Amino acid sequence: MKENISISLKNVESFISNEEILALAQQSVLHLDSLNKGTGPGSDFLGWMSLPEDIRPQLERIEKVAERLRSISDLTVIVGIGGSYLGSRAVIEALSHSFSSLRKDKHHEIVFAGQNLSEDYLSELLDILDVRNYSVVVISKSGVTTEPAIAFRIIKNHLEKKVGKKNASERIVAITDSKKGALRPLADANGYETFVIPDNIGGRYSVLTPAGLLPIALSGIDIRMLVDGAASIQAVTRNNRNASTNLSLIYAAARNLIMQSGRTTEIMVSYTPKLHYFSEWWKQLFGESEGKDGKGIFPAAVDFTTDLHSLGQYIQDGQRIMFETVLSVTEPNRELRVPKEEDNADQLNYLSGQRISEVDHNAEAGTILAHHDGKVPVILLTIPQLNEYYIGQLFYFFELACAVSGYILDVNPFDQPGVEAYKRNMFALLNKPGYEEAGRLLRERLK
Ligand code: PA5
Repeated sequence: MKENISISLKNVESFISNEEILALAQQSVLHLDSLNKGTGPGSDFLGWMSLPEDIRPQLERIEKVAERLRSISDLTVIVGIGGSYLGSRAVIEALSHSFSSLRKDKHHEIVFAGQNLSEDYLSELLDILDVRNYSVVVISKSGVTTEPAIAFRIIKNHLEKKVGKKNASERIVAITDSKKGALRPLADANGYETFVIPDNIGGRYSVLTPAGLLPIALSGIDIRMLVDGAASIQAVTRNNRNASTNLSLIYAAARNLIMQSGRTTEIMVSYTPKLHYFSEWWKQLFGESEGKDGKGIFPAAVDFTTDLHSLGQYIQDGQRIMFETVLSVTEPNRELRVPKEEDNADQLNYLSGQRISEVDHNAEAGTILAHHDGKVPVILLTIPQLNEYYIGQLFYFFELACAVSGYILDVNPFDQPGVEAYKRNMFALLNKPGYEEAGRLLRERLK
């Protein structure tokens, strides 16, 4: 049997006792029950809870479609934003070669679009697409999100001009709602292959649907192992009413109690740049789920040791408003040691023969103690290795913890009403039909 994620609260103890954490975790079993019975806020959006088993019948088709696109193209543009791209990007960045775009060997490349409104970004992407043999996967649950809709229109036009409308249709896959939105009829009219994001799964909980799994499979990553990992944590958390062994309950309780002590920012810390986008996924999951009704822990992230040379100063010594959650990876996938040099001109021979990961782990351990001494509580999460299985575990672990944490805060963790405010103003300023008067009022304010 493989190991599971582990959690250590050793560097939280001097701020909040284990007994307090366990007591809140035990009370939170009620929230777990609400999730399982579908009786809490947002209960229409609980489809993610059983995804590790529900998605299995679709895995073969996802793999086949990925294989087909890989056989007719050498690059795929993934068009999507928020929950429609962060999960797949998290896995692809974590498990691909750090310099894959510079590698000469044959591999399928993935690039992302529709996650911004930058004219330069899209223009530069078209420069690349001019000379590449590419496919497109467009992902939008609502089918009406402006950023991916604009990017898709541009890329679709480019592809149709390049390979003809019929060939373009064979190279485009749309992942969207079964009925709603503009993308579904567009896909049907053009004969695109499609996958459905189920009604009862919100974007940020959708990484184990085709929205996350098709891009991941396209990049050659094992989606079965990812789902197996999620299932392994689901098995020990979803129905586990013994709080002392339920990692998601313990994490949810710990972070809420730390917040109640006045530390309202949680910083996700990782010591490998490969986890940068995992932290982005985590930020979206918790930020969009909890930040409402004037409540919520602000989720931030740093990449150490890089950011120890920038934000490290603030974390050690600035306002005491934060706590850290360190995501530690025990064993790297590659081996590299510090070489010995006879003249020791750089005075590094005390490290010669050591693995870079040993140096990194000492930086991690030393930083945890230093930050703890600087009055920053540190939750430590450890996975044995960076691979599909443990990333799958992390996804389910955090999703369940986030849902429980939302209920502890007494918010609906499955809606995102605040996201509409910027959209309304943008549409008004762009004179979208129906927004004319709102646009006039906003333009007055901008004078
Ligand atoms: O979690 C969410 O629901 C959001 O972040 C969405 O994923 C994001 O806004 C993109 O929406 P859509 O997939 O409808 O284009």
